[in-house]
Amino acid sequence: MANLKNPILVAPSLMAANMLFLKDEVQAVKAADADWLHLDIMDGHFVPNLTFGPDIVSQLRKTFPSKNSLEFDVHLMVEPVELFINLYKNAGADRITIQATPNLHRFLGYIKELGCKAGVSLNPGTAIETIYPVLDIVDQVLIMSVNPGFCGQKFIASSVLKIEDLAKIRKIRNLDFKIIVDGGITTENAGLVVNAGADVLVSGNSIFKSKDYSTAIAALRHPHI
Ligand code: DX5
Ligand code: ZN
Repeated sequence: MANLKNPILVAPSLMAANMLFLKDEVQAVKAADADWLHLDIMDGHFVPNLTFGPDIVSQLRKTFPSKNSLEFDVHLMVEPVELFINLYKNAGADRITIQATPNLHRFLGYIKELGCKAGVSLNPGTAIETIYPVLDIVDQVLIMSVNPGFCGQKFIASSVLKIEDLAKIRKIRNLDFKIIVDGGITTENAGLVVNAGADVLVSGNSIFKSKDYSTAIAALRHPHI
């Protein structure tokens, strides 16, 4: 699951950044060797918080146009999700992850038709069996290791077992989706989740509340396993 540049990908979650200086914050994580920019989109309905509208994402995309240097990884926590997929694709998303819904198969297919990488996200209380039927069409599975809504929450340890199970299923079925872990990731638990099979570490506070983004990203990427 590794790419040639970095074996473990690190995706800073912009909602933990200083909102008054978004452009500078994105430039800083890009300079600090971030692989993806993780954009948490919240609607105050599906989750009790509000974050970035499509216009903000679109302005950021104009400022950082090359997906080769920083992929925009949009994590939609909105309802109804079908109203927003196109908006965020047009705003510049390279990857779109949606929460597991009854119409999951249709919406993942739609995301792929639009030319984006498609992902499904599982909340801590949702079993991985829920997404077995779509594992052969997804590009990424995002395991939420906190309940969605806020940065800086405590990592839920049962996520490690979920990642292990998912990695096993991926191997058995000979699939190649990426396993992303999102929520409460720190240098203390990064090794655990990587060992369990995670390929991409999303991190908000551990990066944006650190003094030195390069050091923080490098420490997540090379945890002491
Ligand atoms: C939570 C979001 C996460 C969060 C990560 O709903 O999906 O991306 O911002 O932030 P930390 O790493 O601080 O938990
Ligand atoms: Zn997220």
